[in-house]
Amino acid sequence: MASLSVEPCTFALFGALGDLALRKLFPALYQLDRAGLLHADTRILALARESGEGGARLASIEEHLRRYVPEREIDAAVLQRFTARLDYLSMDFLHAEGYQVLAERIGPEERLIAYFATPASVYGAICEGLARVERARHTRVVLEKPIGHDLESSRRVNDAVAVHFPENRIYRIDHYLGKETVQNLIALRFANSLFETQWNQHHISHVEITVAEQVGIEGRWGYFDEAGQLRDMIQNHLLQLLCLIAMDPPSDLSADSIRDEKVKVLKALAPITAAQVAQQVVRGQYIAGSSQGKAVPGYLEEENSNTQSDTETFVALRADIRNWRWNGVPFYLRTGKRMPQKLSQIVIHFKEPPHYIFAPEQRPLISNRLIIRLQPDEGISLQVMTKDQGLDKGMQLRSGPLQLSFSDTYRSARIPDAYERLLLEVMQGNQNLFVRKDEIEYAWQWCDQLIDGWKQLGDSPKPYAAGTWGPVASIALITRDGRSWYGDL
Ligand code: BG6
Repeated sequence: MASLSVEPCTFALFGALGDLALRKLFPALYQLDRAGLLHADTRILALARESGEGGARLASIEEHLRRYVPEREIDAAVLQRFTARLDYLSMDFLHAEGYQVLAERIGPEERLIAYFATPASVYGAICEGLARVERARHTRVVLEKPIGHDLESSRRVNDAVAVHFPENRIYRIDHYLGKETVQNLIALRFANSLFETQWNQHHISHVEITVAEQVGIEGRWGYFDEAGQLRDMIQNHLLQLLCLIAMDPPSDLSADSIRDEKVKVLKALAPITAAQVAQQVVRGQYIAGSSQGKAVPGYLEEENSNTQSDTETFVALRADIRNWRWNGVPFYLRTGKRMPQKLSQIVIHFKEPPHYIFAPEQRPLISNRLIIRLQPDEGISLQVMTKDQGLDKGMQLRSGPLQLSFSDTYRSARIPDAYERLLLEVMQGNQNLFVRKDEIEYAWQWCDQLIDGWKQLGDSPKPYAAGTWGPVASIALITRDGRSWYGDL
């Protein structure tokens, strides 16, 4: 039985028949219901343009739910309760009439949560529509990424929403912030004095953040080709991870205290000029190769592709933070599609001890690393040096992990999907795990200069075979500084 109290609401899901809603949002809502975290009076309104019989649409939502929720987690009684909460309304989000019908289904005093799983270009029209029928007052709006494709367009979207909603009722999603291990980063850093004293340029040599995906474009070519890996992953997920690693301790856990600290990091990111882009940023595009033992096509041969595209599917870069804590500590970021495995991890490399007393040939072994694994096998591991056991070993050193594997330690507990956590937080009115307007804008500003740099240089993405760790230039990027990507096989 759940111990959290959650107030009742009407959850209006705009774009309810889209991939995100079917694959992630309905399953997340179902899981919240299963965990007893939806109030008995909470209703879910599925809103989409597709006309036709509502019953058939709801049946299709249920069918997808069965596909995306593991069979062992489908409970007949919960499913029945969940589907009874659902209702479907066909409406054109750009026309006023639909909002009138919508308003009739929501009482004027009801708490409405409006989730926009639509292109950002429609957000303004939805806000306007809700305001016109007087359903903006008790409403929290949830905005999916991408919010714009550069600073200017993101401002336009944010400004259009801000006409009707104050910042404290706007929830901008970055689903990485809902991942269990990402939240654990805050606990790790600020509930253990052990790390905080080491968390600076005196003790840390460099930081790596890798978000590698094994999948390719998965039928999303049209969307992805407009965006590319920099806009799709670095501007949001990787920069958010960087902020959580690099930020100063907030004075409390309130949303604004945390977000103020993250913004300071974004403001301190060293600009990368067009001349530096060639040295510090690598973009790649996958060509045919193999994945999990099977031949797979290149990006330009994917379904619905345009054979001329020079959109990147891989980015590796070196970011520097200009402040007292991080001066001289590079942050290497790397993300790509069609990598050898799905892997998201942060590796903090600590500096060597100031004075070395062991056998010289063992020196390359020496290093402490903190590895924070987001997926798969969520966990944290600290690589420490110990002595090898045995009379014949003398003072032979070995590097071994002090390990905290969340899946082993909390074996009985299921690790919730990021969207479950985020939807629950919206229902509770907590903004900690959502992105504030200024964070989005500073992140865009920093990414825009990289895109401008590529344009100025006429840079095209470097090819890499599907199933590899990206172009060789990505290895050169880090070896130039005398380092290597951790764990690449
Ligand atoms: C999304 C991107 O935000 O994150 C996708 O648009 C990407 O391209 C996805 O595949 C990765 O999320 P996760 O949780 O699977 O790492």
